Amino acid sequence: MENKIEVKDGKMVVPNKVVIPFIEGDGIGQEITFAMCQVVNIAVAKCYGGEREILWKEVYASSKAEKFFHTPLPDETLTAFKEYVVGIKGPLFTPISGGRRSLNVALRQDLDLYACVRPVKYYAGISSPVKYPEKVNMTVFRENTEDIYAGIEWEAGTPEADKFYRFLQDEMGVTKVRFPNTSSFGVKPVSKEGSERLIRSAMEFALKNRKPSLTLVHKGNIMKFTEGGFKKWGYELCEREYKDQCFTMNSYDQIKNEQGVDDAKQALADAKAAGKLIIKDVIADAFLQNAILYPADYSVIATLNLNGDYVSDLLAAQVGGIGIAPGANINYTSCHAIFEATHGTAPDIAGMNIANPCSMFLSAVMMLEYIGWTEAAQAIDVAIQTCFSEGKATSDLATGMDHAEALSLSQFTSQLINKL
Ligand code: NAI
Repeated sequence: MENKIEVKDGKMVVPNKVVIPFIEGDGIGQEITFAMCQVVNIAVAKCYGGEREILWKEVYASSKAEKFFHTPLPDETLTAFKEYVVGIKGPLFTPISGGRRSLNVALRQDLDLYACVRPVKYYAGISSPVKYPEKVNMTVFRENTEDIYAGIEWEAGTPEADKFYRFLQDEMGVTKVRFPNTSSFGVKPVSKEGSERLIRSAMEFALKNRKPSLTLVHKGNIMKFTEGGFKKWGYELCEREYKDQCFTMNSYDQIKNEQGVDDAKQALADAKAAGKLIIKDVIADAFLQNAILYPADYSVIATLNLNGDYVSDLLAAQVGGIGIAPGANINYTSCHAIFEATHGTAPDIAGMNIANPCSMFLSAVMMLEYIGWTEAAQAIDVAIQTCFSEGKATSDLATGMDHAEALSLSQFTSQLINKL
């Protein structure tokens, strides 16, 4: 099909002129999305001399969709993301209590985009609250369809909450709800299939990119069957499907118990020397501490939804904040993917031409890499690094940088385009 990505045997076939649907987004979305399209067009033109081109197709969500279609998420938008396989979006407004469900969650669930992928690395020149930000180089795989994202909750005082409590008490013998009359209830589903497909994606990524380790971050000490299941199924999957390519700390413990600590240490050293991927796990709260104290110990992270939410923002803060943290939501089986800036709509600075567009630019970098246009991806990445090294940045970053020039969004975009 002309200009459309096709998926054959689980792999994408990308035409040289490819349609990419995009959602502009609310708040600062319009400004940063426009800048992103400009930057990508120039990078693609420079790298491929007209042989390749992105044909942008605007699709609508939130306020713009309500204006044109009288609904926040028209079927046309979902159909376009399904049909064209890969797309990109700006941030979307979500009402906090009541009202409609989050459009981001709706897109991820409708397309079953089960992996939220957040790479976090440091760009020299940016100020950081930690001493050695250059040691932070991690990619977080956050499960996107289960856990708290399943959204199974009942509000205190409703007949549903009451019915659920009675079920817990009468049918399940639960006696530990401290204040039943004023409790809201939430259910956290975590499945073997859901955990395995996420961890498999993280494994494939780690092996393809020759990463040293994959860490399963969980809270299995408290939630034994959900978070603990994630850890157990993760280790089992790695030992079953990637036996020759990895060494798990699970097997380290087994060797230690059966043969002693020296043999276990030797087996680990041998695995590292053979270039095997090391699979380990850590409790979520310990990870949040270790990620600041010993960031170099971690590389690829696989975790459930809520942990992943905290982990990705903590890591982003170490390298300059959410203004430069990119993200993607991917189904590695169907190849469907939506790339997005990870920050919100920033209503306080919308329309002021001061937003930092780098999260959006770097999401586009991830998208170009994903479709195999790596030269264009690299060109943008290098141009961003050059700008920061020369002290050119938007004001959110420039205020903390030495001898930096605080540029508006459009000035920064022009500088970046010059570097391309
Ligand atoms: P936010 O990320 O929009 O803003 C938090 C703070 O960071 C604000 O001070 C803002 O000015 C600043 N900021 C954010 N992006 C920036 C950028 N690119 N450059 C410079 N400064 C930036 O988070 P908030 O205020 O909690 O959420 C606002 C709205 O965005 C809400 O409706 C929320 O639901 C939505 N949201 C949407 C997301 C998405 O579409 N992926 C993600 C997070 C929030």
